[in-house]
Amino acid sequence: MGNSSFVAIALLMSVVVLCNGGKTSSYVRKLIQNPVDMPLDSDAFAIPPGYNAPQQVHITQGDHVGQAMIISWVTVDEPGSNEVIYWSNSSLQNFTAEGEVFTYTYYNYTSGFIHHTNITNLQFNTTYFYVVGIGNTTRQFWFITPPEVGINVPYTFGIIDNYPNHDNVRWDTWGRFIERSAAYQPWIWTAGNHEIDFDPQIGETQPFKPFSNRYHTPYVASQSTEPYYYSIKRGPAHIIVLASYSAYGTSSLQYKWLTSELPKVDRTKTSWLIVLMHAPWYNSYYSHYMEGEPMRVVFESLFVKYKVDIVFAGHVHAYERSVSVNAQPH
Ligand SMILES: *[C@@H]1O[C@H](CO)[C@@H](O)[C@H](O)[C@H]1NC(C)=O
Ligand SMILES: *[C@@H]1O[C@H](CO)[C@@H](O)[C@H](O)[C@H]1NC(C)=O
Ligand SMILES: *[C@@H]1O[C@H](CO)[C@@H](O)[C@H](O)[C@H]1NC(C)=O
Ligand SMILES: *[C@@H]1O[C@H](CO)[C@@H](O)[C@H](O)[C@H]1NC(C)=O
Ligand SMILES: *[C@@H]1O[C@H](CO)[C@@H](O)[C@H](O)[C@H]1NC(C)=O
Ligand SMILES: *[C@@H]1O[C@H](CO)[C@@H](O)[C@H](O)[C@H]1NC(C)=O
Repeated sequence: MGNSSFVAIALLMSVVVLCNGGKTSSYVRKLIQNPVDMPLDSDAFAIPPGYNAPQQVHITQGDHVGQAMIISWVTVDEPGSNEVIYWSNSSLQNFTAEGEVFTYTYYNYTSGFIHHTNITNLQFNTTYFYVVGIGNTTRQFWFITPPEVGINVPYTFGIIDNYPNHDNVRWDTWGRFIERSAAYQPWIWTAGNHEIDFDPQIGETQPFKPFSNRYHTPYVASQSTEPYYYSIKRGPAHIIVLASYSAYGTSSLQYKWLTSELPKVDRTKTSWLIVLMHAPWYNSYYSHYMEGEPMRVVFESLFVKYKVDIVFAGHVHAYERSVSVNAQPH
């Protein structure tokens, strides 16, 4: 897997069951000597037309069970409206929700107006349409809510990655690039090392500044104290996002949160317990070798005790998968 700074999960659950590990493909990626970024004026990064047109539209689950959605977008000409108009495909009534707008500066970069609006009281397994950019140029999108949390409800997930690393213009181009997916499919965000953006040499001393302004997470709904680790339930899965770059020692808040979260997993409702993190605990590739080891030492016994089914990690620029692993002495 690539440098998975952002992870949206994606695997048909039944497919996961069929993963038996082992070497399944002879494909070997060609090494590119001098990789070049896509040019900033590439069509894939096109700015939508119209005055103050919303761009970089993306959505993520807003609550713990899938009945709220955080709708996020950027406007560049003026703050505009934080309002989202939405309706389900079977209702004749429109609803509105009001959110908040954020801006930040990073070295010589000033962000656009970043809007986040949580729309709530959604029905499960329902198509919703939504409109952003009220008052100026409006744009309409849609998404389908997950089925009600429960065992054996089929649900599809996917995995994607990114790494802008300090260059905030790339945060914008990437935001426009992923919109074609992220405006319609709720992505689940996990922060990686490229999102820390801590650089005292240029006066940037607030970790995760671009990430935390641009990508909101429903961490409060799972009693987390930091946006970088949290949980959601989605259909048949209880999904835990861990933070490789937040404190995780036994006296840390993340450790305390995880130890209170794991006993809440109810296998009669969520048959799958999935964990996402940035730095893998196991990898055989030379790059980032054993960087995940300190976290493994702290958390692995909990994963074993609570029988985590699947762990998805990124960071290492090479794909590997394995059957369940437990390096602890038994
Ligand atoms: C969104 O609204 C839901 C329902 O009121 C709430 O549980 C959740 O915490 C809110 N999420 C955010 C990110 O504000
Ligand atoms: C709901 O909003 C959309 C977009 O603004 C509009 O096209 C539609 O007519 C509205 N529906 C109702 C029932 O007001
Ligand atoms: C910001 O600084 C970087 C690095 O010095 C430079 O490449 C970039 O062009 C600057 N951007 C602006 C908007 O001045
Ligand atoms: C409403 O959405 C459901 C899927 O959630 C779909 O099966 C149905 O055809 C849609 N109805 C309309 C009128 O678009
Ligand atoms: C853009 O939308 C905002 C919010 O609805 C409104 O206050 C502002 O007047 C609009 N600007 C223009 C130029 O229409
Ligand atoms: C979701 O709704 C579709 C119809 O729109 C239905 O066929 C399907 O069984 C529903 N799924 C669940 C898990 O309720």
